Amino acid sequence: MRQRRFYDCPLSEKLLYTAFLLLMAIGYLMALVYLYTSHEGHDRKAGLSIEDIVDTYYGNRSGTRLEAAVRGPMAGYIQKIEDRHEIVAWLKDAAPEQDYRTTVRPILERSCLQCHSPASGLKIPNLSTYEGIKAVANVDTGESLHTLMKLSHIHLFGIGLVAMGIGLVFRLAAVGGWLKVTLMVLPFVAIFADILAWFLTKWDPVYAYTVVVAGAVLGVVWAGQILISLYQLWFLKAPKEKESFN
Ligand code: HEC
Repeated sequence: MRQRRFYDCPLSEKLLYTAFLLLMAIGYLMALVYLYTSHEGHDRKAGLSIEDIVDTYYGNRSGTRLEAAVRGPMAGYIQKIEDRHEIVAWLKDAAPEQDYRTTVRPILERSCLQCHSPASGLKIPNLSTYEGIKAVANVDTGESLHTLMKLSHIHLFGIGLVAMGIGLVFRLAAVGGWLKVTLMVLPFVAIFADILAWFLTKWDPVYAYTVVVAGAVLGVVWAGQILISLYQLWFLKAPKEKESFN
């Protein structure tokens, strides 16, 4: 038996598919605009860039007063360059308390605490306690894991269903075998890769590129599915002979 195609559908079904696809296309464009306006300028520069995405998920970890101080006015008090690397690496690691005690505190004892502790009487940040150093080591690590989990389950359910809906309509298109399989499966792969990459970007900013590439793949494949479907819904005539496209 021949596969059912768009030209086999009654008018009511064609209208249903057309309305759904158009609505989803508008929804996708809205999402793009929303994405742009909510992430644009995160890095305090106009336009959406890879840094904005890094800032969202990884955070801006070099913006602390402590790093500015050890690279600038306080640099002269550090005897060994490795000590500065240790402090900066600790900040990039989100300044955990454990490592403060084991690696950072000994460096500060050697180079900084003669001034930066209550004993000195100076009105400057107290670096001799973790609470004290936190005030100048407030690392921005982007969206919290908790927020990412909330966003990812909403996205997986929501976008997964949209992909299913568009895919169900597109299955009636007359398109060659492998191309069709690829177009059918790619949205799901892209959605998964995109959301996985949020978490990976939190760990290493290089994955911000995966977020962009997966998002672009999803956009292109959906555009393909929607445009092919709309075209065939209204312009593709049933072939004369009983030849099947698969
Ligand atoms: C000889 C005394 C002295 C030593 C040693 C010293 N500092 Fe300071 N530090 C100061 C004074 C005074 C200020 C406040 C004036 C200023 O900001 O320049 C200050 C300010 C700071 C600030 C606050 C900057 C801000 O944004 O307000 C940080 C952070 C800091 N120091 C870190 C360090 C670190 C880390 C070391 C060790 C590598 C260090 N300091 C060693 C005297 C010292």
